[in-house]
Amino acid sequence: MNILLLGSGGREHALAWKIAQSPQTTHLYIAPGNAGTAAVGENVALSATDFDGIKAFALEHDVAMIVVGPEDPLVRGIYDYMQADLATRAIAVIAPSEAGAKLEGSKEFAKEFMQRYEIPTARYMSVTKENFSDGLAFLETLRAPYVLKADGLCAGKGVLILPTLEDAQFELQAMLQGMFGKASATVVIEEYLAGIECSVFVMTDGEHYKILPVAKDYKRIGEGDTGLNTGGMGSVTPVSFADEIFMEKVRTRIIAPTIYGLQQEEIIYKGFIFLGLMNVDGEPMVIEYNVRMGDPETESVMLRVQSDFVDLLRGIADGNLDEKELHIDPRHVACVMLVSGGYPEAYEKGYPISGLQTADATESIIFHAGTTLKDGHVVTNGGRVIAVSSYGATKAEALERSYRTANLIGFENKYYRRDIGFDL
Ligand code: AMP
Ligand code: GLY
Repeated sequence: MNILLLGSGGREHALAWKIAQSPQTTHLYIAPGNAGTAAVGENVALSATDFDGIKAFALEHDVAMIVVGPEDPLVRGIYDYMQADLATRAIAVIAPSEAGAKLEGSKEFAKEFMQRYEIPTARYMSVTKENFSDGLAFLETLRAPYVLKADGLCAGKGVLILPTLEDAQFELQAMLQGMFGKASATVVIEEYLAGIECSVFVMTDGEHYKILPVAKDYKRIGEGDTGLNTGGMGSVTPVSFADEIFMEKVRTRIIAPTIYGLQQEEIIYKGFIFLGLMNVDGEPMVIEYNVRMGDPETESVMLRVQSDFVDLLRGIADGNLDEKELHIDPRHVACVMLVSGGYPEAYEKGYPISGLQTADATESIIFHAGTTLKDGHVVTNGGRVIAVSSYGATKAEALERSYRTANLIGFENKYYRRDIGFDL
């Protein structure tokens, strides 16, 4: 079977790496991909949101399955787009329908959905210019810090956590006045949840589901979780507190009602559900839904999937996921992200990357996040550049290996956090 994977980051390299291992994969295309995905498949110069281009390519190259990495094509309705045309209807698009992708595309929709199915989440109020004064009144019922979320997609930047009531009132107004454009015309005000986060990934065919290994990512640029938010500086799996008791609560209180709710509302969902959870004194609460895999969690989670991943994807498409096997590697995996100095603010691109060959021969697996080929040389092409992932019998061993490999890879102004996994 020919498979087309959409996206260009470390998550997509990790997915491509896993998909390429399957005996069911005849040819793997990645659109647009990066220098790393070019080594496990064939890059195609198409944007992940160019639906017309993707359709034409898929038909021309006999693509039987499309796997979607980032949220943009999902929220824009790639599933419905391919279903709408007889010529592409038979292609297995591993994705929620546009209606299902609203779980990520609209925070207000997600909160209302959780309320309908009594899924544990923070108390909230949805505010627009019309009920601004109610929003101010709701803020007064909460305690610091205050959480404000733009309703729509903001490339991970739409959440503000504010220390004082005055800050929250001021920023609420600024958001409604267009701080994030249309995305913040509606703002969700939320109660702050204190606890420790984890990422739970669910594969579903809309009826059955399987839970992938639980991971934790590290979003802040600075050690000790300080400084600006990034796309993710590293990840580890498993997560010590996500034990059998905790996961049973996640299954019964969150995953089962989520699938039930999707069915009740006749929302087609054949893809991944990513639950951003807060562990509040042992009780899982939903911080957010995403409708895709996480980055950089995928760069550690994929290493622990022992089963044929494409077979699982087929189960999603065919509606028989319950008949598929998911074997999980018991080892720990740690992923360390090497980023461009300056990121997540201004940074330079185009620096040659050295040591990749040497690093490839180590105990680690190298995923490219922001790289490209220039005159036959791999150069930096983004804030997050390379993800280094390693197995270990313990978390400490996995980290030690990833850090050893991280030191072998060089580029101008390379930076990485040395404390991934510190809080577990
Ligand atoms: P999100 O974009 O929804 O993932 O939010 C970004 C980050 O803000 C999350 O990963 C959390 O660390 C934090 N956050 C979001 N909502 C809450 C909340 N209700 N309480 C505490 N922290 C939150
Ligand atoms: N690692 C969090 C995300 O992918 O949104």
